[in-house]
Amino acid sequence: MPPKAFSCYTLEDRLHYLVEKTGLSLLEIKEALETPAQNLELAEAFIEAPFGYFALPLGLVKSLTMNGETYCVPLAIEETSVVAALNKTASWVERSGRLTAHINGDQKDQTVIGQIQIASLKDPERFQRHVRDATREWIDLANKGPAATLFQRGGGVTDINLRLLSRQKDSGVMGVLHVRLNPCEAMGANQVTQVCEFLKPYIEAKTDEKVTLCILSNLTDQKLITANLVLENIDPELGHKIEEASHFAICDPYRAATHNKGIMNGIDAVVIATGNDWRAVEAGLHSYGATKDATSSYAPLATWQMQGADLVGTFKGPIAVGTVGGVTRRHPTAQLVLKCLGNPSSNELSCLIAGVGLLQNLGALRALVSEGIIQGHMGLHIKNMIHRLEATPEQKENIRHSLRLKLQSQKHISDSDAKKALAEIAKVA
Ligand code: MEV
Repeated sequence: MPPKAFSCYTLEDRLHYLVEKTGLSLLEIKEALETPAQNLELAEAFIEAPFGYFALPLGLVKSLTMNGETYCVPLAIEETSVVAALNKTASWVERSGRLTAHINGDQKDQTVIGQIQIASLKDPERFQRHVRDATREWIDLANKGPAATLFQRGGGVTDINLRLLSRQKDSGVMGVLHVRLNPCEAMGANQVTQVCEFLKPYIEAKTDEKVTLCILSNLTDQKLITANLVLENIDPELGHKIEEASHFAICDPYRAATHNKGIMNGIDAVVIATGNDWRAVEAGLHSYGATKDATSSYAPLATWQMQGADLVGTFKGPIAVGTVGGVTRRHPTAQLVLKCLGNPSSNELSCLIAGVGLLQNLGALRALVSEGIIQGHMGLHIKNMIHRLEATPEQKENIRHSLRLKLQSQKHISDSDAKKALAEIAKVA
C-alpha cells in the first residue's frame, strides 16, 4: 500500500509523526506552539505596545533529503498550495533525483556587509590614502571592541574596502566604506551596523571627512548559496517544457518576477518559521537577481536545463540567516522549528532554505507546464470556501464533492458555487 499522504493524517497523527522523526516530546511541541499566543510579554520584548499576535499556519515538508541528510521542514505560510506542492516535489526528488546545496567559498569568508557613507568627499584622493593607511587599525579596533566576541569565535571584521561612487545629482564623489564581518551563527545585521557606528568617530578623526550614515547592506553577495537538483531520466517532454519555462524567465523580467516569487514561497516559509528576517532575505535575493547578470535587467534566481536524459536545476543567491540572536532564540515556535531541523548551523540553514526554494520552483514549473496551477490550487481552495459556510459536517462533505466535480467540468469555481451547492443540499434535506 502506498504511504498515506500527510494531508490525510489527523492532527494527532501529524504531531506523533513529528515526535517520531525529531525525537522531541509531544509536550515540548505542544507547549512551543501554544506559548506565544498566550504570552503577550514575549510580544512586548519584540515591538512597542503590541496588542496581540498575527498567527500563520505551520505546515511541514514531511521528508526532504538534501546533501544526504533527511529533514522534516516546518513552513510558516498562508498560501493554499505551497505545502502540498513541496511535499509532492520532495517525494518526486526522493524517488528519482538528488538535491544538494553548498555555500560558495571558505567558511571564514562568509561575511555580511556594513556600509559607511560619506555623502560628498572634500578630497577623494586624500580620503583614499587615509583609508589605505588606517584599514588595519580600524579592523583591529573593531575586533577588540563591538566585534570582540565574534572575533574570539573565529569571526569578526575581516576587511574594509573603499568604493568611490559618482554622485548623480552633482559632479562630486561619494565615499562608501564596506565593512565585511563574519557573524558566525548570527545573521549579523545588528553586529555589523554596531561596528560601523563604532568606527564612525575614528574615520572622521583620521580623514577629516563627515560620515553621513551607517547601516548594513542586504545585498549580502559575500554569502552566496548554490543549490543543485538533478532529476534522472525525466520524461523528456516534461523536461523540455520545464527548460522552456525557465528560459521564459531568463528572457523576460515580467516572468522572472513571478518565477522568483514562486521560489520565495518556499524560502520565506522557512525563513519565517525559523524566526529570521524575511524582508532582509527578500531584499537580498531580489537585488542579487537585478545585479548578478550585467546583460539582463532582472534575472531568475533558479534555472533549469536538460543534460542528456536528466533535468538539472540550479539556484544561486544570498541567504543570510541566523540560528542565534533576536527572534530565533526568543520565539518558542522558532526554537521548536530549529530543533525539528536538528539545530542546524547558520550555513546549513541557509543551504536548506536554498534547497526548499529550488524544490518549490520545480513544483511550480512542473504544474504550470502540465495541468496548470489552478487545478491543484483551487482543489485546496475548496477547503477554504467550505470553512466559511455555515453547514453541518455532512453537508460540507457533500458540498466538497459537488465543488470538485464542478471544478473538473468547468475548470473554475467561486464562493457563489459553494453557496449554490449549500442551497441545493439544504433544499433536498
Ligand atoms: C504562486 O504563488 C507562484 C507561481 O506563480 C510561481 C510561478 O509562476 O513560477 C505558481
